[in-house]
Amino acid sequence: MSAASKEKKLWGGRFTGDTAPLVERYTCSVGFDSRLCAQDIDGSKAHASMLAEQGIITPSDCEAIHNGLEQIRAEIEAGTFVWRQDLEDVHMNIEHRLTEIAGTPGQKLHTGRSRNDQVALDFRLFVASSLDEWAQNLHSLIGVLVQRAEEHQDTLLPGCTHFQPAQPVSLAQHLLAYAQMFRRDHERILDTLKRVRVSPLGAAALAGTTHPLDPGQVASTLGLGGTFANSMDAVSDRDFVLEGVFCGSLVMMHLSRLCEEIIIWANPQFGFVRLPDAYSTGSSIMPQKKNPDVAELMRGKTGRVYGDLMALLTIMKGLPLAYNRDMQEDKEPFLDTHDTVAPSLAIMGGMLAELGFNRERMARALKAGFLNATELADYLAAKGVPFRQAHHITGAAVAFAEERGVGLEDLSLADLQRFSAGIGQDVFAVLDYENAVARRHVPGGTGPDSVKNQIAELCLWLDAMLWTSPRP
Ligand code: ARG
Repeated sequence: MSAASKEKKLWGGRFTGDTAPLVERYTCSVGFDSRLCAQDIDGSKAHASMLAEQGIITPSDCEAIHNGLEQIRAEIEAGTFVWRQDLEDVHMNIEHRLTEIAGTPGQKLHTGRSRNDQVALDFRLFVASSLDEWAQNLHSLIGVLVQRAEEHQDTLLPGCTHFQPAQPVSLAQHLLAYAQMFRRDHERILDTLKRVRVSPLGAAALAGTTHPLDPGQVASTLGLGGTFANSMDAVSDRDFVLEGVFCGSLVMMHLSRLCEEIIIWANPQFGFVRLPDAYSTGSSIMPQKKNPDVAELMRGKTGRVYGDLMALLTIMKGLPLAYNRDMQEDKEPFLDTHDTVAPSLAIMGGMLAELGFNRERMARALKAGFLNATELADYLAAKGVPFRQAHHITGAAVAFAEERGVGLEDLSLADLQRFSAGIGQDVFAVLDYENAVARRHVPGGTGPDSVKNQIAELCLWLDAMLWTSPRP
């Protein structure tokens, strides 16, 4: 083994042979965990301050460490920092450079600490800031949905079950359904953050440390909500990553459903929406086409986030306590999820804000789909016709109207009375689509009062969340 290579490994004291080059590449994580550099620097600064506070290092050691770490941050930001694969990971790259800059004080930084609690801290900080970003993007997206719902309280379209036209609903009601999904996602993220924002520093390799550390001080310096309760759990728990990716999976599932609606609505046979130019693409061969690629890609990317979740669950399932190197495999799935969820939310917000809704096409679809058939059946039932008979009578009237290519509301009273003598002139108000929507007063229903209440309640929630917004 060469003297140069022996010196370069921070853990190389007991080794006499070199790492095989293929193994070096195989075990190295700096290609992706360098993205945790800001968290690594923040965590190390907090650790050094605590070491000084506890009298474990001197104030001047601490100052040299802080200055060195800030210089490293500046080098990374300027792109002059040299990331070395032979130094394995973000932690050892930064510590090695710190020792170059600060000398002996740099070598004291790792006192009472292991890379096992260090990486857990860095990753918790990273996951927390990612979840903050998702929560903020969700907040904006919900704001757009509420805004569009406000504009479209009077726009009616067919509501579907089994993807078949069922009953008329307002477009506002349809959009607000998504607002509720994303609001739950937001709540889920805030709840997850309580468990993410816990400091594992002080757990050291697995058993704690003999140095008189103060883990609580590190946690409060970093703005975390608490410290670990058990050192072995602290270094081997990755629930916080899994919960994050699960939150992301639900976000993507909700986005994907909305994408599916947009893709269907943009099909000219529906024609319910016009895609904004900024959020669609053309075909290289068919000049007439405007493709919903953005929505399709988002629907597709949902699959990769589910894959990240499954990968993480599988990585963790067989691991005995405490830290195992398998856990290094936790970074890429989370990073991939973050790189998918954060922009997907932002793009959906932008796309929805500019989506053109075609009220006429929606109104036409209502008529063609006999979306007032339930109204007629309910009308007859209210007049004392047993509901099953009312259902049957209405079915026959629909078949009659369909044959003539008209809606139920276009039939004459005499025609309608052929199916039931109990039908009177008042049926026409009942068959009116707007009335059908307006009469659904039940709280949470599609009636205009309910929709107004939903909008008002969501606006209050949006305002309240501005104040409790996760992080500055
Ligand atoms: N790069 C490692 C990871 O991400 C850091 C911790 C390594 N710890 C160790 N004992 N080898 O998990």
